[in-house]
Amino acid sequence: MAAVSRESWGGRTAFIVAAVSSAVGLGNIWRFPGVAYENGGGAFLLPYLLAFITAGVPILYLDYAVGHRHRAAPPLAFKRLDKRLEPLGWWQVAVCYVIAIYYAVVVAWALAFTVLAVTQAWGDDAAGYFFGDFLQAEDAGFSFSLVGAVLWPLLLVWVVTIAVMCLGIRRGLENVNRITLPLLVLLFGAIVGYSLTLDGAVDGLEAFFTPSWSALGDPTVWIAAYGHIFFSFSIAFGIMLTYSSYSKRRADLTGSGTVVAFGNCSFEILAGIGVFATLGFLAVQQSTTIDGLEEISGVGLAFVTFPTLLSQMPGGTVIGVLFFLSLVCAGFTSLLSILQVISSAVQDKTGWSPAKAGAIVGVAAAVPSIGLFATTTGINALDVMDAFINNIGVVTSAVLTLVLICWVVRATPRLAEHLNAGGSVRVGALWQTMVTFVTPFLLGAVLVTGAWSYVSDGYGEYPRWYLLVVGWGVIGLVAVFALAMSFRRYHRADAETFVPEDAEVLAEEVARARGRAGDDQGRSGA
Ligand code: ALA
Repeated sequence: MAAVSRESWGGRTAFIVAAVSSAVGLGNIWRFPGVAYENGGGAFLLPYLLAFITAGVPILYLDYAVGHRHRAAPPLAFKRLDKRLEPLGWWQVAVCYVIAIYYAVVVAWALAFTVLAVTQAWGDDAAGYFFGDFLQAEDAGFSFSLVGAVLWPLLLVWVVTIAVMCLGIRRGLENVNRITLPLLVLLFGAIVGYSLTLDGAVDGLEAFFTPSWSALGDPTVWIAAYGHIFFSFSIAFGIMLTYSSYSKRRADLTGSGTVVAFGNCSFEILAGIGVFATLGFLAVQQSTTIDGLEEISGVGLAFVTFPTLLSQMPGGTVIGVLFFLSLVCAGFTSLLSILQVISSAVQDKTGWSPAKAGAIVGVAAAVPSIGLFATTTGINALDVMDAFINNIGVVTSAVLTLVLICWVVRATPRLAEHLNAGGSVRVGALWQTMVTFVTPFLLGAVLVTGAWSYVSDGYGEYPRWYLLVVGWGVIGLVAVFALAMSFRRYHRADAETFVPEDAEVLAEEVARARGRAGDDQGRSGA
């Protein structure tokens, strides 16, 4: 057995809380309702649920198996599975880096809006306020003029984030998650409960749950559903893999994974219900339908449509503060998890302490985050990067992971044995068939058609040159980085010689430990 000293979570609950805190993030509150609306409203729910079953849960288990069996962040974990796979790990690290630099900006906007909500600073023109006064947005391009309203909260977000990263897994992340997750559940539960009492809530829910079947024929709807599932579950770009590497040896990975998957999905649907119920209210106020509302998708939903309706809603000030605060809580813990992938990979490679890696990675992410996104052109870069890195970068990572692990290395039987050694939900032929055949083909088709639509139709209203630089260019840099990093040597001798746990031995040990726990319980119950 390999002697590996690695930080660890305090226990199973801490691991589940961390995984749910990572999964539940801006993706659930800021991204999901907007993406759902943009992609056919109710029609999106079907691809979303299919993506949940065919990709979300199977890949979550796969990530857990790779991370836990090989006790490392993606590059070293993949390398330990098979030497040739290290670049895939660095691809995931680079994807995390790109996501982190814009994700922090949305957390900073939410922080600013928590304060702005007290006076409803946007007045009666939320769109004009957000794009004009707040972001001072210009057309797509590059500007170096910083915007104070974004810069200061963003600096604060980075300082706190770096401080928590430096404290490490237990003292840092675990303590923060312990406070933010219950707070988030309370805040968001209150908002959703309140939203259902509003006039027009039923119309909003109808728009959310009524399928527009024609949208199902559109490949971009499918790629959006799969891209979103990965983003939302924190899978296929290293987060769940890294988090499981900090779990105890005898962890119940599949049991915990099932709790995490359903927890995240429930939160997402709950967010959809809350947001669409309130949109129904707004539509009634404006004597229009949900379709008739402006700026309903993407960035605009949380920072334009929502403020507009806060101004018209009884109790809008309190709800506004609670809403943006919940966005901050959800986003902050997810941001920490995204950065932990990078910090953990750097620690594996260099042997640096969590504090040193946390500080260096944090500063290296904070600088471009500020330089690119706290400027007057930041919003365009953010929108394009978010679309390309999720729908191309993450989906490519998922396809490569499945093809390389299941077809090239043929590691699924090993990984299934590892999952089953301590798992309360057994994975068998169904899981193996899913990850080996169904999911890679589905995802491959989704990736090719989605990428083709970006090539042929572009994305949004952005000029071609801009998409080439900020969209495709960033994907190219991710690829170059992934290859370049794989040439550097590991500082640790056991990078090459690591031997994973024997699944049979582990299973026996787990059975003995659970038997003992059962006996103890039986005795104390008697
Ligand atoms: N899973 C995180 C989110 O949904 C990244 O925001």
